[in-house]
Amino acid sequence: MGNRKGHQTDINLPGREYPSAVREENLLDDPLQAVNDGPEAGDEAHERRIAWWREARLGLFIHWGPYALPAGEWNGEEVKASYSEHIMLRARIPVQAYEEMAERFNPTAFDAGRWVRTAKRAGLKYIIFTAKHHDGFAMYDSRISDYSIVRHTPFGRDPLKELAEACREEGLVFGIYYSHAMDWHDPDSQGNTWDYPGNIGAYDEVESWIHDEDKRSRFDQYLHRKSLPQVRELLTEYGKVGLMWFDCGGKLTREQGEAFLTTVHALQQDCLVNSRVWKSPLGDYANTSDNQLETRAVRRDWENIITLNDSWGYKKSDANWKRPDAIIRQIIDVVSKNGNLVINVGPTATGEWDPVSESILLEVGEWLQANGESIYGAGASPTAKPSWGRCTLKGRTLYLHIYDRPADGQLVVPGLLSRVERIYPLAGGEDLAFRRQGAQDIVVFLDDGLQIPDGKPVVLAVLCAEAVQGNPVRLLMDGPGSPPMYELGVFESEISGSALRYDTGKKNRDNLLDWSDPADFAFWNIRTSGPCTFTASLVYGCGADGGGSYRLEASAPGQTLRQKVEPTGGPYEFREFEAGILHFPDAGEYRIELHAERIEGAYLMQPRQLRLTPAAKSFI
Ligand code: GLC
Repeated sequence: MGNRKGHQTDINLPGREYPSAVREENLLDDPLQAVNDGPEAGDEAHERRIAWWREARLGLFIHWGPYALPAGEWNGEEVKASYSEHIMLRARIPVQAYEEMAERFNPTAFDAGRWVRTAKRAGLKYIIFTAKHHDGFAMYDSRISDYSIVRHTPFGRDPLKELAEACREEGLVFGIYYSHAMDWHDPDSQGNTWDYPGNIGAYDEVESWIHDEDKRSRFDQYLHRKSLPQVRELLTEYGKVGLMWFDCGGKLTREQGEAFLTTVHALQQDCLVNSRVWKSPLGDYANTSDNQLETRAVRRDWENIITLNDSWGYKKSDANWKRPDAIIRQIIDVVSKNGNLVINVGPTATGEWDPVSESILLEVGEWLQANGESIYGAGASPTAKPSWGRCTLKGRTLYLHIYDRPADGQLVVPGLLSRVERIYPLAGGEDLAFRRQGAQDIVVFLDDGLQIPDGKPVVLAVLCAEAVQGNPVRLLMDGPGSPPMYELGVFESEISGSALRYDTGKKNRDNLLDWSDPADFAFWNIRTSGPCTFTASLVYGCGADGGGSYRLEASAPGQTLRQKVEPTGGPYEFREFEAGILHFPDAGEYRIELHAERIEGAYLMQPRQLRLTPAAKSFI
């Protein structure tokens, strides 16, 4: 799997690329560590705990707390923060004022059964509910602190208990989110420096307080006085908890993170713990960053988390909704890499889901109703990533998720070595004709009825006669059946070197960065099914502080292209530049490498994508 030497992938960077405003926006979101080693494959307790989760694949996050009341506005003004649950931090609301606001929280329309049934209709198999977020307010009846929905509000009910019971009734797994490191209400925790100026700041690294006796010991007191005891309550008073989802564990020392892990397992052996309890490799599985779109699976078990708009908590002004078809593709993409996807809803202060969130989720649920077989309990396929979509696998069935229907109706399934028995549309319909093309590929003949309605992928099931064998190397063709263009993203490339690394994978951050060492390079392995020729172009961003020249090198005779890096107006202003023609003389496997020839600024450029246009198409 290429060279991983010292690389941290997908991290949220401190440092030069992100102005502090951007960093603050993403701050309380733990980076994914490029650690490949989670629990050992032979760890029986882990295997037993995680079995339901691998089957479930999809979960619902519920971010609900008093922050639903201001819903992103304070004193009549919109607070500059995309996450509404961070309002206390971002508007520096004094504890007393936040307490007064929370006293008015009275969500009388809350109906746990209705929430859980909607989650079920949406095809989601587990729920993660915020028992306490960074604001320190307990959404359950805590005996450790009176600062809770039961004792601090007129509502007086325990929604966590009601949700746990509703999940049990409906057969969903119940999970609990608990912000263990940060608590803006507590005088000894982290984050609130406006009421408690001597405290650890929300953006402070562990290194900044670990040698400070006062900060360290008071924080430790908070952990032992409130955080760990509340975790114990949650694991003893609400029945079986399937998952404890901790947050911002990067703000703890490893020992502190381990204390939470041990506490959970001492009380409930079979309860899963996510990696944000500290950071990977701790926990049963790794989390990505929030809303990370491009992901590289670095651990066997991992989970991606997305919002429906831009906020986790309910936010009045946020209408930046994701489309149901985009969410469906994200589900497929994640499962095609063996991951789980958790989708969030932020209920309102009355205790209801806003109608837009509900309708998006139900639309996703309709697709899952017909196609869920390709998602639940499914995982990565050993075959190659196709240009028209993705593949998932379960048993000896391969599922083809078609995002883009090939113009000629001939769908090439790349790298499928096993014998195929039959191919049929999962949502119903006639078997499809197919034939083998060469030793490694299959061509399926799509009938005209198979279209992609509203961008929602059509799924074909390919039943194989034996365990599915595949070649994962991406297939490029030039001629009949080839798409108008192949896009090879840098997250699909392997990187080699000391400085070059993957960006966060969030929106518009799907590039490589820190290309300051000329010895570093990125490469893609590809396979061709015959002689072929492509026009190659590179998409990258480069500010005034970067520049130089690069070299694209294919492992075929004489295939080296050299180009000067052009400024694009900024490292994240991506533009496409033609590099030249690449020719592959025969069917076979090749490697395409992207090297620095000369670095003239602080970095060469930030590459995002290699585009290859088949020559046959470019002459049309
Ligand atoms: C981040 C945010 C938090 C949200 C969580 C969900 O840690 O701080 O508000 O709960 O991500 O992934």
